[in-house]
Amino acid sequence: MPLKVAPSVIAGDQSNLGHEVRAITAAGADLVHLDVMDGHFVPNLTIGADVVKALRPHSPLPFDCHLMLADPASFVRAFADAGADRISIHVEVPDAPNVLRSIRDLGRTPGIALNPDTPIEALAECLPLADFIVVMTVHPGFYGQTLIAKALDKVSRLKHDSRAFGRDVAIQVDGGVNVANAARILAAGADEVVAGAAVFQASDYRLAIEALRGRTQVS
Ligand code: DX5
Ligand code: ZN
Repeated sequence: MPLKVAPSVIAGDQSNLGHEVRAITAAGADLVHLDVMDGHFVPNLTIGADVVKALRPHSPLPFDCHLMLADPASFVRAFADAGADRISIHVEVPDAPNVLRSIRDLGRTPGIALNPDTPIEALAECLPLADFIVVMTVHPGFYGQTLIAKALDKVSRLKHDSRAFGRDVAIQVDGGVNVANAARILAAGADEVVAGAAVFQASDYRLAIEALRGRTQVS
């Protein structure tokens, strides 16, 4: 299976997000990745549910909302109502298992993210409650950082463990993904990659997405 590619609009033109969402949709993206930051859990601020709602009519693709929030429990309903199809929260926040349950109760697909320094053992309680795992390969907060290769070791272990559980949980790799490291990420067992700079700083979004999937080369 080729990698699914989820461009992260955090790296697009912030003055024209509707255009960027339409552009990545036309360019063959699989998902739209929306990074939500609160200035507490991460040292940066980005968009809220109103922006997600405003973007919703611009694409039929699944909206993949990555909540980097210290208090996701207070916001998951707003993102579900805004049109998020998938909502990921971080295992480092208190009460993550219950937040995953409420995401599912809201009819959305729950995902659990873990930071580069967080060991996979921290996921034990959350794994049975999540349909996808977000392996962070940068310290979250900013796009355009360099992938932390050591964090990739978790991908193959998680793939193996989730199969052992009898649930083939999808694994998404987020942070510093580019054409040069995508093949290694696929070989490690990832199903999906998030790509901010690698897509939005390319002159041709379609070529960039196809190159990340491994179907063609960027010349
Ligand atoms: C990390 C975010 C991202 C990330 C993607 O803070 O969760 O999704 O910025 O951007 P690139 O691919 O440029 O690292
Ligand atoms: Zn993200």
